[in-house]
This record gives sequence, structure tokens and C-alpha cells, in this order.
Amino acid sequence: MGLQFFSILATLIIFLNTLGNIHAKSEATETLNQRHGKQLSIFQVIRFNNGPCNGTQSMPGTCYTSQECSTRRGVSIGSCANGFGVCCSFTISCGGTTSENTTIFNDENIPSGMGTCTATICPAGNDICQLRLDFDQFQIAGPSTVSLSVTKLVNGNPSAAANAIPNAILGQCITDQFQVTSGSGVTPPVICGINTNQHVFVDADADCNMLMFQLGQGAVSRSFQIRVTQYACTSPNLAPSGCTQYFTSDTGTGMVQSFNFGNGHLADQDQVMCVRRNQNSCRVEAKDVCTASSGMGASTTARFCCGSNTVGTAVGNAGGYDCLSLPFAESKMGNMNVQSRFCGRNAGLSSSAMSSLTVCSRASPFRVAFRSNAFEVSDMTLPNTEAKNVDKGVRLVYFQDSVMC
Ligand SMILES: *[C@@H]1O[C@H](CO)[C@@H](O)[C@H](O)[C@H]1NC(C)=O
Ligand SMILES: *[C@@H]1O[C@H](CO)[C@@H](O)[C@H](O)[C@H]1NC(C)=O
Repeated sequence: MGLQFFSILATLIIFLNTLGNIHAKSEATETLNQRHGKQLSIFQVIRFNNGPCNGTQSMPGTCYTSQECSTRRGVSIGSCANGFGVCCSFTISCGGTTSENTTIFNDENIPSGMGTCTATICPAGNDICQLRLDFDQFQIAGPSTVSLSVTKLVNGNPSAAANAIPNAILGQCITDQFQVTSGSGVTPPVICGINTNQHVFVDADADCNMLMFQLGQGAVSRSFQIRVTQYACTSPNLAPSGCTQYFTSDTGTGMVQSFNFGNGHLADQDQVMCVRRNQNSCRVEAKDVCTASSGMGASTTARFCCGSNTVGTAVGNAGGYDCLSLPFAESKMGNMNVQSRFCGRNAGLSSSAMSSLTVCSRASPFRVAFRSNAFEVSDMTLPNTEAKNVDKGVRLVYFQDSVMC
């Protein structure tokens, strides 16, 4: 099919003809036109690609003729291709399916009580590699705050043995949850709570990806608007493989943070936050911007961070599982002898266990992962090597560094 997406600079091929009628044609109808090439010679034909465009208020859309836009059930939000096309925007809600780039998935017909709300995102072309989901608005029920042990486990199985450890649902998304299916590669973690202005990348499925909300009972205030951008395999905007998130600006002022930051960190997370090392920069510096109770402080026993098994057997003696992992970390002054795993619940990366206030890495991309297991605690009397669920989570600012090159 002629439906293809090229660069932002739409190529305009203008066949001039003295007879002067003007017809706008886009790639989507080009094949048809070619069959009637002779007839077209009596018209002046404007041809453009169905590339991305900006509508009013910088809303993203795809450039189509106005007829194509309405056939595809889009809405015109401005003009493109020098006025010969319309910038066409696509919106779906629960139960909807799309194969259009930059479709908005909103909460218009969200169930009022228990239920599911699913959107199906199919490839907008035959070379789509990744989807980027931007949570312009994202609020669903937060994680469980129930800290009671419901049962005791050994190796994940209920047990009454003396060494059985309490199992808790604290921090888990048991009322509401959001997840996205992945074509291959890493699937973003299941999340809940408030995640407005966060984003995730996911590998595109050759069939379709599903965006799924599972909504539980209770008087919960829920709203969402998710912008879904599709990237071709050749796009410069692709995230490196394994990255849940990809930050590309020169500095990040606080949006590099764990999901549901500030409202209790989530259980069962593996959130890989990647930062692009930009031109002239040889390393990226990260600084924890949380003050007290960031929930991810430096521990002098870093070897225990990220170390316990998934049911948290290390809690109380050997340190916590929940951690921040930062491969190839070095200090601001370039000292390589710096731990790469951080856990605990105190002052964050800037604690006295570190000789500097920031941690740097020359790895490209700069990759910092927030990991948490299924076992979360709220007991403030436990040793501070385990982040407590009541803690905020982790939030970083970052800078590109061209001084230490
Ligand atoms: C849309 O606007 C953004 C920012 O204003 C700009 O970076 C981008 O190139 C524009 N895209 C198109 C297709 O014009
Ligand atoms: C989808 O739109 C974005 C801009 O919003 C653009 O960068 C990207 O290349 C487009 N994807 C395709 C497949 O055209």
C-alpha cells in the first residue's frame, strides 16, 4: 500500500499544468491515482506524505486530506502540507482500536465501578519498532496500604515453619492496575497510583499491543489521557533496548522518578530509566533530590542491595532488596571506587556513605534502575536497609557533564 511515513519534511511534488484545477492527494490515495495518470494530467496535483504534523496547541497529528481524515474517523486540528492537507488527530477510549500514529487514549467511557478498560494499538506501518506512551494525565487507585501479614511463606509457598516470613500486600497494585503488553524485550512493570507526566517505551508487537486498565471496587477518582506515539525502526527517537524510559534533554529536573513517586513506592518494580548522553558530554551526573525518606539512600552494605530473594528473606538482617542500580558508577571527582547499588531509606545518594553529592556514569546510555520486590514493609523500626513502602520512592535530577572529559 502507499500508506507510508517519511520524514517530517513532507516532500511536495507539484505537477504543474496549464489547465489549473488543483487536487490534493496524499500517499494514501496515490496508488489509485497512478492508475489514472493520464486523466490527472489535466489537473494540478499536490502530493504529500502522511507524516506527523502539529495542530492547534501543538497537539500531534498526521497529515491527511480532509476526506481521508474523516474516512479514518479522525478530527482535523489544523492544516498541513501548505494548506492542502489537514492535521488529523485520533482519539480512542475504552474498547477502541487504532493503527494511527499519535493516537490519544482517554477515559471518556471508563467503567464507573469494577471493570476493565483496554485499548488496542496496531502498527501504523510495517516497520514500527517501538511505542512511546506519554501519560499526559494518569490517576487510578494507589497501591495497597495494608501492612498486615496475610500468610507466612517459605520460598514463596505458604508455610508454618519457624523460618517462614510474613507475606504482605503492601505496595502492590491490588485495586487498580495498568499494564501494557510488549512485542518482545522488556515489559514495563505493572503500575498504579499517580503517574501524570511519566512515560514508558515498549517494543511494538507485530500484531498489536494492548493497553489495559484493570479497575477494582471502591470510590476512586480516576482519570487518564495517554498519548501513544509509534516509532519506525529507523527513528532517531527510539529508546535503547531494555530502557523503560528514555530522557533526552540536557538536564532532567526531577521527572526521573519511580512510579507513584511521593505516594508510596510500588512493589514488584523493575523500572529502567535511561538518559541519553548528549553532544559534548562524556558522562551523566545524577543527584537525589529527595530530602528525608526518599526511600533509596546509600547503604554501606551495598552488596546486600538488590540481593535478597523475591520474598524478602533478607529483611531485618542482611539488608533490603529494593534498590537503585547504577552500573559503572563513579564519584563526581572521577573516583571509580563507588558502589553501583544503593538502598536504604535515609538521605539518598547524598548520604555520608558517599564522598560526593552526585553519582556519575560514563555508560551510554546512562541507565539507572529502580527495583523492588513483592515484599514491602511499613514498619519503621526495621533496619533502615529496606526502603519502607511509606517512603516516597526515588527522584533524581541529572546533568550532562562535559567538564570531566
Ligand atoms: C511540532 O512542534 C514541535 C515543538 O513545537 C517541533 O519540535 C516539531 O518539529 C513540530 N513537528 C512538526 C511535524 O512540525
Ligand atoms: C509519529 O509521530 C511522531 C511525532 O509526533 C514522529 O516523530 C514519528 O516519526 C511518527 N511515526 C511514524 C511511524 O511516522
